[in-house]
Amino acid sequence: MLRASRCGKYLAVLALALASSLFAITGFAADRAHVVVLATGGTIAGAGADAANSATYQAAKVPVDKLIAGIPELAKVADVTGEQVFQIASESFTNDNLMILGRRVSALLKDPKVDGVVITHGTDTLEETAFFLNLVIHSDKPIVVVGSMRPGTAISADGALNLLDAVSVAANPESRGRGVLVVMNDQIDAARDVTKTINIKTNAFVSQWGALGMIVEGKSYWFRKVDKKHTINSEFDIDRLKELAPVEIAYAYGNVGKEAYSAFAAAGAKAIIHAGTGNGSVANRMVPVLRDLQDHGVQIIRSARVWGGFVLRNAEQPDDQYGWVVAHDLNPQKAKILASVAIASGMDAKALQKAYWEY
Ligand code: DGL
Repeated sequence: MLRASRCGKYLAVLALALASSLFAITGFAADRAHVVVLATGGTIAGAGADAANSATYQAAKVPVDKLIAGIPELAKVADVTGEQVFQIASESFTNDNLMILGRRVSALLKDPKVDGVVITHGTDTLEETAFFLNLVIHSDKPIVVVGSMRPGTAISADGALNLLDAVSVAANPESRGRGVLVVMNDQIDAARDVTKTINIKTNAFVSQWGALGMIVEGKSYWFRKVDKKHTINSEFDIDRLKELAPVEIAYAYGNVGKEAYSAFAAAGAKAIIHAGTGNGSVANRMVPVLRDLQDHGVQIIRSARVWGGFVLRNAEQPDDQYGWVVAHDLNPQKAKILASVAIASGMDAKALQKAYWEY
């Protein structure tokens, strides 16, 4: 008995010695998560001329090492390293930016020494990038996308706490397997649900089906899980994607004409997201226009300019008869992301409609 307990103590001391020498060599504590922050720009990296400038500032100015150095509390949460992938305002994102970022996230998460990734991002297209990663990254490790509504130079800036919270979530093993997460304003949302609903308030991001949880003083409180396919259960894979298919969005309104739809088709769009009024409605004069585009190989996808609910198939429009697809509850910008990925992955209209039900 005495010998066994002495042996146990010896092993404990040996493990401690190993852990501290590992720390000495790598600078990383063996028991702490290694989280990589991939910076892309946006307001979270923004700077204003005056502390009172909460809305007037230049986005994409502060480099990732300064973002990390500006939050010493990060070191208590995880071993954090940073990479500057881009330094742009997110309204300027392109499909190429998405592919470059996706490939870097995928490569990092294949590294056994990386436990999670945080992406700092402008809020304008944050939901599109987060949903894209949710579709194409085959890892159950935490991927957390974070932004801010005020620059770090402003009084009551939100970026530092958002980034600390995002790293806490990414370092937390409980976050694994939940799909790509968006952390803003103490809230943890699902990439597929969340959208920016207000353009100048810190509580801008809302999920119509509710947040997944909250993060308060570094602790995550979970309330639900996503009921849709994502990440490791996705049929899509960044490593098999060469590029994204060109898909455009046409916004509908009273007096809408065919000009935008025709121009998109002429420019080579493989699909057009119809951001319809109401339940994805199509003006009577536009039905023959969209049917003709469909007949000429441009996939028509009915989404809605309305924030909540979802577009019903074969309700106001005989989608089966016309060969159209409905985007279900995805807003136009997310419907575009799914169509770009699915069409680039070789999906036809039938498979695409199934994808809108399942992702
Ligand atoms: N230019 C906007 C962007 O980069 C600023 C908005 C923000 O990041 O909050 O998305």
